[in-house]
Amino acid sequence: MSELSDILGSTWPVIQGPIGSMNSPDMVAAVSEAGGFGMLALGFVNRLEDAKRLVEEVKDRTGKPFGANVVIMNPLHREIIEMLAEEGIQTVTTSVGRPDAIYPLIHELGMKGLHVVLSLTHAVKAEQAGADGLVVVGCEAGGLRSRRPESSTMVLVPLVCDHVSIPVVAAGGIADSRGYRAALALGAQGVQIGTRFLVSEESIAHEAWKQVVIDCGDGGTDLLPVGNMMTRAVITPGIRKLIEDPSVDLEEELQKIDRLKAWDDGDLENAMPGAGQVSALIRDVKSVREVIEEMVS
Ligand SMILES: Cc1cc2nc3c(=O)[nH]c(=O)nc-3n(C[C@H](O)[C@H](O)[C@H](O)COP(=O)(O)O)c2cc1C
Repeated sequence: MSELSDILGSTWPVIQGPIGSMNSPDMVAAVSEAGGFGMLALGFVNRLEDAKRLVEEVKDRTGKPFGANVVIMNPLHREIIEMLAEEGIQTVTTSVGRPDAIYPLIHELGMKGLHVVLSLTHAVKAEQAGADGLVVVGCEAGGLRSRRPESSTMVLVPLVCDHVSIPVVAAGGIADSRGYRAALALGAQGVQIGTRFLVSEESIAHEAWKQVVIDCGDGGTDLLPVGNMMTRAVITPGIRKLIEDPSVDLEEELQKIDRLKAWDDGDLENAMPGAGQVSALIRDVKSVREVIEEMVS
C-alpha cells in the first residue's frame, strides 16, 4: 500500500478536485462509493453551519472515506478544520495560503493534510511546513493560477518528486486511463481530477457549462486575469471579442462578470466557464463511476 493510500483510505488514489464553492453531497458520496476520494469544496464557505450541514449530508449517503478542501485565506478555515475533525473527517487538502500556520493544528487534531501547490518552491516550503503530502497542479489545469510563468504537469510532477519525500498527487490534464498511468509513471502516487468530474452525470454544474467543455477543442481554453491571480477558462465568443478588442481593458471588463452567478445561471456567453486544457479530450457526460473505472482499468 502506498503512503497516499494510507492517508486517503480509498480503494483508488483518485481525488475529486474541489470546484470553487460547487458542492453536491450526492457527487462526493458517488465518488467515494465508486472507490475514489470524494471531496467537499469548503474553500469559500462563509458560514460554519453550512459546512457542517454538507459534511452531514455526505455522511448520510456513504460510509466510505471522504475529505474536504479548505482555503487558508478563508477567515473561517481554522473553525472549519476543527468542525471536520469533530465530524470524523481524517484528511483535508489545503489551498491558497501559508501552510506553516495550519499544519500544527491539523496534526494536533489527529488529521492529515495534502497541500495544493503550483510550483516547486511552494512544494518544498509545504513539506517543510509539515504537509503530509502534496497535490501538484500543472498549468494546464482548470482553476486559479498564479501570475508567474508556470510549468505543465509533465514537468512539474517529476520535478517536485525529485525534491520532496512526501507523497505527491498529480493534477492538471488528467481525464482518463492514459493520464492516470502517465501520472503514476511521473512519480505521483495518485491523481486529482477537476474538469472530467465537472462534466459528470452527478455534477451540479449547469448543463450549458458541461456542454461548453464538451464543445471545447484544442487550444480552446486560456488563462484570464482575476484579481491578483489568473484563472483558466474556456474562451467563449463573448470573451474572445473582449480579448481581440484593443480598446478594451480586459482586466477591468472581466472584473464586472459575476463568475459564480454566471455558472449558476448557465449564462456563459460572456462568462468564464472554468475548465482545464483537458476539456479537449472530454466528449461526453459520464457517471463518476464510469470515469473512475475506466481510469484505473
Ligand atoms: C472551475 C474550477 C474551479 C476550481 N476551484 C478550485 C478551488 O476552489 N480550490 C482548489 O484547490 N482547486 C480548485 N480547482 C482545481 C481543481 O480542484 C483541480 O485541481 C484541477 O481542476 C485539476 O485539473 P483538471 O481540471 O485538468 O482536472 C478548480 C478547478 C476548476 C475547473
